[in-house]
Amino acid sequence: MEKFIVKGEVQLNGNVKINGAKNATLPLMAATLLCSGVSVLHGVPNLRDIVMMQDIMTMLGAKITREGDTLSIDTTGVSKAEIPEHLMREMRASVFLMGPLLGRFRKVRLSHPGGCDIGPRPVDLHIKALERIGAIVNDKFGYIQAEALELSGGEIYLDFPSVGATENAMMAASVADGTTIIRNAAREPEIWDLECFLNKMGAKIIGAGSDAVRVTGVKRLSPAEHTVIPDRIEAGTFILAGAITGGDVVVENVIPEHLSAVTDKLREVGVKIINGDNYIRVRAGSFRGVDIKTLPYPGFPTDLQAPLLAMLTLARGTSIITETIFENRFKHVDELARMGAKIKVEGRTAIIRGVSKLSGAPVVVHDLRAGAAMVLAALAAEGTSEIENVFHIDRGYEALEVRIQGLGGNIVRCGSN
Ligand code: EPZ
Repeated sequence: MEKFIVKGEVQLNGNVKINGAKNATLPLMAATLLCSGVSVLHGVPNLRDIVMMQDIMTMLGAKITREGDTLSIDTTGVSKAEIPEHLMREMRASVFLMGPLLGRFRKVRLSHPGGCDIGPRPVDLHIKALERIGAIVNDKFGYIQAEALELSGGEIYLDFPSVGATENAMMAASVADGTTIIRNAAREPEIWDLECFLNKMGAKIIGAGSDAVRVTGVKRLSPAEHTVIPDRIEAGTFILAGAITGGDVVVENVIPEHLSAVTDKLREVGVKIINGDNYIRVRAGSFRGVDIKTLPYPGFPTDLQAPLLAMLTLARGTSIITETIFENRFKHVDELARMGAKIKVEGRTAIIRGVSKLSGAPVVVHDLRAGAAMVLAALAAEGTSEIENVFHIDRGYEALEVRIQGLGGNIVRCGSN
């Protein structure tokens, strides 16, 4: 297993270009299955999760080639609509394949995605959404089987604005007879990006980004070409890295309003933020503690909770973070405590008492965003840290250590002994 060796107390300074969004790319790749032919996606980051999605789609019969950050996806040969357990367990985001495969083949069978490190990952809202437009769904023996003689428009209400359920519903409804309205829809920018791509394929969707998405079904969709929106979570991670190290960092190729909740909170604690048209500059000194809740977009994103928590371990005063989205997303707390952080977790709330310094230590990564938090803490800590299991980090950040080196950070990747 590879690890990072980080020498801390180095300010990050300089410019870093943000890649296309992982959480936009995955549903966009799935959406190409709704038709036969060659679609092209630009700005696709080279991440483990993207490679896993490529492997699953190739197993289904797609032919996928990459040139730089461009993926060409030929879905002509796709004939299967079943995803085996070992691939589902690899990456639960394969659940995004349910809607497009049902839309194309009127049937789909996939192993239950199961939970992951941040909590149980139910799919009841995905199933409810597909049933509302005519699917018969059986969820037993560890498999979900959905079939529909025909898909017909309907009214879907999501009890929680689930990102994945909204995306599955949009994709399946795009080829249903009649109109579907998805109420209490997720409003994340990645939903809007999916609407753009589906409409380029010939779909008729409006309302993405609001809590009501209206889909007028069409008979057929065609391949399309699209550039993925920038990754707001990667951008936020680099902004927080600049803040925690007291540096001066410019993140380029971003859509600043996608990060409003994050930059607003940083300004509140005393970090200097300058928004450009397609960049954000962070200049940090010391910062205060703050109270925050993670919420569905446009609230503070759960995916930046761990990196923010890492930063707040060094704030003046106490902070309270409440994680309202996932049940078990404080795995990074024990590891940060090994570095001298003072944090108490009570249920879904973490109470962080700021300390003047963290100390480098050997730590272990348990999930993607906890891994980012460990890197940020190590960059600020006194002394050296060894961060194990960095494959989790490679799922969502492309060559993170190389880009941090580009900002002056002292971090190297090596095979663990
Ligand atoms: C997407 O996951 C993202 N993943 C996650 O990013 C992100 O944290 C999450 O949205 C929330 O923003 C991708 O886009 C690939 P949800 P998703 O359905 O769609 C409950 C990362 O680090 N729920 O909005 O799975 C669920 O238990 C990843 O990049 C149900 O109860 O998230 C959770 O508590 C992690 N029933 C909440 O909703 C359902 O049927 C949010 O889930 C579905 C979800």
